[in-house]
Amino acid sequence: MFNIAVFVSGKGSNLKSVFEKVPKEKIRICAVISDKEDCGAVHFADDYGIQVFFVDAKNVLNSCGYSELAKILKKIQVDLIVLAGFLKKIPDEFIDEFENRIINIHPALLPKFGGKGMYGMNVHNAVFDSAAKISGASIHFVDKIYDNGLIIAQRTVDISDAKDPDDIASRVLKIEHELLPFVIEKFADNKIFINQGNVVVE
Ligand code: GAR
Repeated sequence: MFNIAVFVSGKGSNLKSVFEKVPKEKIRICAVISDKEDCGAVHFADDYGIQVFFVDAKNVLNSCGYSELAKILKKIQVDLIVLAGFLKKIPDEFIDEFENRIINIHPALLPKFGGKGMYGMNVHNAVFDSAAKISGASIHFVDKIYDNGLIIAQRTVDISDAKDPDDIASRVLKIEHELLPFVIEKFADNKIFINQGNVVVE
C-alpha cells in the first residue's frame, strides 16, 4: 500500500477529491496534517476517521513541531507528502528529511504567479489583473524556495471569458480536482521519476 500524508489549511476540497478519486486499493491517506484546528479539511478527516496531526498551530494544545512530526510520519511509513492548500512554508530541515517526496498543488501555471504571498485568491486576483486568457493548475516537487521545485504536471483552463477572480478560482479548482488524483495515482503506480533534472510521468 502507498501511504500518503496530506497537509491542509482550508476547505479541503482537494483532500476530498483525492479521497474519492484515487482507488482505495492503491493508496491510503494515513494522516492529515493541519496548522488550523477548525477548517473544512480537518472536519472531513474527522468524518472519515483519518488521523489528524496539528503542526505549528496557534492555540492548539496538542500541536507539534516539525521535527516531532517528521518522526511521526516516518514511523507510520509515509511514502508521499501532499501539500493540498497548506499555506505555511515548510522548514528546510523537514524538506531535507523527505527529499523528493513532498509535492504541492498550486492554482496557476508556474513559473508564473508563484512565490511568497501567492496563494489562494491572491493568485487568482493577479491572474485576473494580468488579463491572461488561460490559467491552470501545477503540481511540483517542494524545495526550499516557494513554488520553485521541479514541475511534475500541469493542466490549463480557458479563462478568456472569466467574469472575475472568483470565476477563475472555481474553474481552476475544478481541474485541480482532476490533476491531483491523477498525479497521486501515478506516484502510487511508480510511474513518476526524475531523470537528469526532468520529471518523467509515464
Ligand atoms: C487550492 O486552490 C490550492 O491550489 C491552493 O489553495 C486551495 C486549497 O483549496 N493552494 C495554494 O494557493 C498554495 N500556494 P482546498 O482547501 O479546497 O483544497
